Amino acid sequence: MLRFKSLLPYKITNFYSTIRCGSIQSTYLETYIEKKLENINPFPYDFIDRILITEDEIKERVNTLAKQITSDYQNSEHLLLLGLLRGSVVFITDLMRKIERPITMDFMSVSSYNKAQSSGFVRIDSDHKTNIHGWDVILIDDIVDSGYTLSTISKLLLDRRPHSLKICALLDKPERHKVHIKIDYLGFSIPDYFVVGYGLDYDEKGRNLPYIASINLHKHKD
Ligand code: IMP
Ligand code: MG
Repeated sequence: MLRFKSLLPYKITNFYSTIRCGSIQSTYLETYIEKKLENINPFPYDFIDRILITEDEIKERVNTLAKQITSDYQNSEHLLLLGLLRGSVVFITDLMRKIERPITMDFMSVSSYNKAQSSGFVRIDSDHKTNIHGWDVILIDDIVDSGYTLSTISKLLLDRRPHSLKICALLDKPERHKVHIKIDYLGFSIPDYFVVGYGLDYDEKGRNLPYIASINLHKHKD
């Protein structure tokens, strides 16, 4: 049995077809395998529920957004992509490589979340370095939830007199908005799920997943 155990959960069907031999009872093994399967989570984090947006879907949408930006900023020589750390990092690095215009990249670090709850208070932990006066700025974040983060930061940036300011977000949860926010470039609109992957985290975990997945906190053993 121990020998079989080490083979699970890999190639479960192939393995099962080879076990009807010797003195081992197949019904016993069937129950054993079913029990094992119940406990297998195919994802690298135990709190993941299911994939909402695949890697390919993200790639296609990011390319489309980059094409729109390339065309909208044909006449701009001072285009700045300003990302909010840390959630936007994966998105911004993929997006920038598909924009066929000269760009500059900068970041601000802001926080308002504790685990899966917005505190409503947006704190600037680190400001951008570029003097944005006269620049065409695209403010980029991973997701719009209440909208407080992007509305607070865009008001602050407008005081710094950029030539133009637009907002770009990979994801939006419209049902959760608490303030009006105009998203100029949006990847996907999603229902009210807490999601991780492609830069987004739950309590700093899950940023490395190449897809967007919803989470189920009941599955998580903290
Ligand atoms: P807002 O200020 O409520 O719009 O929240 C925006 C920020 O909250 C984003 O930049 C994310 O860091 C975080 N956030 C909101 N919803 C999620 C989510 O579903 N997964 C991961 N982070 C989220
Ligand atoms: Mg964020």
